[in-house]
Amino acid sequence: MSIKLENVSHSYANEFTKEMVLSNINIELENGKIYCVVGPSGSGKSTLLNIIGGLLHPTEGQVFIDSEEITNFSQKQLADLRLNKVGYIFQNYNLIPFLTVKDNILLPLRIAKKNISEYKENYEALMKRLQIKDKENAYVYQLSGGQQQRVAIARCLIIRPEIILADEPTGNLDSENTKKFISLVQSILKDFNTTFVIVTHDERLCDYCNQTIRIGDRSIEILKK
Ligand SMILES: Nc1ncnc2c1ncn2[C@@H]1O[C@H](COP(=O)(O)OP(=O)(O)O)[C@@H](O)[C@H]1O
Ligand SMILES: [Mg+2]
Repeated sequence: MSIKLENVSHSYANEFTKEMVLSNINIELENGKIYCVVGPSGSGKSTLLNIIGGLLHPTEGQVFIDSEEITNFSQKQLADLRLNKVGYIFQNYNLIPFLTVKDNILLPLRIAKKNISEYKENYEALMKRLQIKDKENAYVYQLSGGQQQRVAIARCLIIRPEIILADEPTGNLDSENTKKFISLVQSILKDFNTTFVIVTHDERLCDYCNQTIRIGDRSIEILKK
């Protein structure tokens, strides 16, 4: 899916202060490409990602997904968007330790009340591709960091998302697993028709992206490759 932000600003306010994090952002993300979002800690990378995925309503401006304005969506439409179109990968993976690998991966389908049997083929293909089939019945706490991340990727892909948002996905990985992550992202992009947005501290990842978005001082700079 393509994503467009028009004059987007965001501030967090409480009764005492108001902190402007993003100011007048305009960007367009094309379908099927990988974008890297970089910038110092606290610069608003996660805020931008949450706005792109419809998890956070910006205080000003419009967000369009495939030219539909999601900033006008009802709560129900937003929930549908998140359940059916947007896949999220978090730094700490947000897996549920007392569920098995299989149950973690199927969780988004259960939440969205989908018919799980319709996803069996996709599930088996992901288990094979991510090399976690033999861990299917293990609990998440029994896995290594790299394996946990692959479970998180499988959980994100099970719904066949059209946008994948990853917040510091390699933050906990060594360089070997970071390389594996990148080649996985590239192969996913080939097979799933999806747009990938990766927030990262690790500027090495930018080499593998189509475009880098650098946030600093509330505004953004788009670096073409
Ligand atoms: N829910 C929130 N409420 C209030 N302030 C927030 C909230 N989320 C983030 N912030 C503030 O907004 C700024 C940007 O945060 P964030 O988008 O998480 O930055 P980054 O991901 O680049 O580290 C930070 O100063 C942070 O403290
Ligand atoms: Mg962040």
